[in-house]
Amino acid sequence: GAAELGPYRHYMQKEIFEQPRAVGDTLQDIDSITPELFGNEAYRIFNDIDNVLILACGTSSYAGMTAKYWIESIAKIPVNVEIASEYRYRDSVPNPKTLVVTISQSGETADTLAALKHARSLGMENTLTICNVQTSAMVRECKLSFITRAGVEIGVASTKAFTTQLVGLFLLTLALAQVKGRISEEQEADYLRQLRHLPTAISAVLALEPQIMAWADRFASKENALFLGRGMHYPIALEGALKLKEISYIHAEAYPAGELKHGPLALVTEHMPVVTIAPKDELLEKLKSNMQEVRARGGELYVFADNDSKIANSEGMHVIRMPEHYGKLSPILHTIPLQLLSYHTACARGTDVDKPRNLAKSVTVE
Ligand code: AGP
Repeated sequence: GAAELGPYRHYMQKEIFEQPRAVGDTLQDIDSITPELFGNEAYRIFNDIDNVLILACGTSSYAGMTAKYWIESIAKIPVNVEIASEYRYRDSVPNPKTLVVTISQSGETADTLAALKHARSLGMENTLTICNVQTSAMVRECKLSFITRAGVEIGVASTKAFTTQLVGLFLLTLALAQVKGRISEEQEADYLRQLRHLPTAISAVLALEPQIMAWADRFASKENALFLGRGMHYPIALEGALKLKEISYIHAEAYPAGELKHGPLALVTEHMPVVTIAPKDELLEKLKSNMQEVRARGGELYVFADNDSKIANSEGMHVIRMPEHYGKLSPILHTIPLQLLSYHTACARGTDVDKPRNLAKSVTVE
């Protein structure tokens, strides 16, 4: 009811603004990185496995795709990410030394549960879930678990569940790296410090809301949008596009920016807004030339840039500066403005933000 919503217009907006609290709660009680964060048997299992298979749907699968970058770069363990509804119906080559990781807000998604059972039927018994509901089927079915503390999520569009999943997956990365001896104590402590700073960093990004609302007014009249990201920000671009589709009904697609010239550039005209995630990283210079390709075709760029990215407002180039550069955790921070952009675009279009047409909060049927 209205009392619960407080100053917010929708649950989605409330849940976006709850993220500093949700992330803080998810990290609560964690004094140090240890496999036991995932259960009593975690040390033995992490020690045994030599690869990771992530199974999830929708937004949760994008958390999994982000984790692939983290786990391969920090823990040096190969990771496959599979859409649960596809994995369960294809022939794959099982490896008993796999850590099967399901990711689910609800813990009741039929396709993800079925994919988990399929993996088990192939002899993969080492199962772990990152889940927001302690009492769910998913938690019961998996040997190991990490419970995110997002709290109840009511908006159909997942927001705080996603960012807390990312926190859980980063902790998993660190625990795997520790067991495999691929991280020093100093690095571990440094990452833990960065995690603890997240609530403050997220609050600073939430303060960009007025600038994002001004962009949303311009997006409201569009029927198409492109989202670009590279590396570990590509899954964040996918998440940004999904969010816009779900609640504003604007057709949106995400591409790793280097793929533009292999097809989607043909779509770019002055009518195409191109949202670009531009953190200061080793791919920034390449990204800038991808952005020039868009400008040269008259496309309008909407860029979320780190302070030191040296990208300035100009004709057809709209820039919002992110308050902090955040290294490996940057995908978490870059998620927030994309949530706000789709939220305010949907509001401007007058859609039913918390209950978009044709969608259910948790998909418990196939
Ligand atoms: C996200 O905004 C979606 N509504 C949807 O993609 C969701 O993430 C997906 O259905 C998976 O749900 P789960 O995390 O509860 O398993």
